[in-house]
Amino acid sequence: MAYETIIVEIEDHIALVTLNRPDALNALNDQLLSELCDALASAQSNDKARCIVLTGSEKAFAAGADINMMNSKSFVDVFAGDLFTEASDKIIAIRKPIIAAVSGYALGGGCELAMMCDFIICSETAKFGQPEINLGVSPGLGGTQRLTRFIGKSKAMDMNLTGRFMEADEAERCGLVSRVVPTKKLMDEAMAAAGKIAEKSMITVVAIKEMVNRSYETTLREGILFERRVFHSLFATEDQKEGMAAFMEKREAQFRDN
Ligand code: CAA
Repeated sequence: MAYETIIVEIEDHIALVTLNRPDALNALNDQLLSELCDALASAQSNDKARCIVLTGSEKAFAAGADINMMNSKSFVDVFAGDLFTEASDKIIAIRKPIIAAVSGYALGGGCELAMMCDFIICSETAKFGQPEINLGVSPGLGGTQRLTRFIGKSKAMDMNLTGRFMEADEAERCGLVSRVVPTKKLMDEAMAAAGKIAEKSMITVVAIKEMVNRSYETTLREGILFERRVFHSLFATEDQKEGMAAFMEKREAQFRDN
């Protein structure tokens, strides 16, 4: 598939996906979402990609779902067409880790897209928000659900009800992002984090992503049991033998994803 609204580069085992609708601040329209899903699925099945970095421009990661696209839609259009469900399901089905590298605006669907990634590294200029309330609608891609789990009820209510933007330092303080870095260093930092992940055993990486995500979907007791059983099952891999042998022999592990 030839892409017009995103750019995909694969290098050093990292798939870098850049949202590229600069005239609309990377607003998420049908074409962009379809291309993004296709690119992520391709990275998932490409052995050359071991980690994915999703980014936008310096001004905007994404300023939300495309309001032009939604403007004339009726309830029947969005309900019967199940707006955003297919794209959302496809994005969260990706098993390889996805790092969101956010600079500038991550609003509405843009903030929600960043939260669908596995963790967020942002620049000092990042601004997160769920301003849908100003449009007379609510978030529709997880802004009332993931955001509440990530930053707690009080801040999530504040963001969703007032539509205010949250700056990078507050986003780091409340756990929405894992790191804040100077704008010029954002991509280096995100690519370095992806590079670290790419060196690990892919089986272990995928297992840990599943484990952490399970913590949002089940009770603590069930989650700990899930973690313990997957931990046990990793002892069936060659990578566990290699990882522990390498530690004992004081050398770097050579993982083979088996
Ligand atoms: N959809 C469509 N176009 C958008 C857009 C969006 N979400 N956000 C920005 N754009 C367009 C603008 O219309 C403008 O296009 P033109 O030059 O053709 O007029 C261009 O991007 C640049 O935007 P601005 O001139 O507004 O730039 P600014 O620097 O003055 O303001 C901004 C930046 C504060 C991000 C402002 O653009 C803005 O408020 N955007 C809308 C944010 C928003 O409401 N997002 C939520 C969308 S709904 C949603 O996401 C639902 C969901 O949960 C799934």
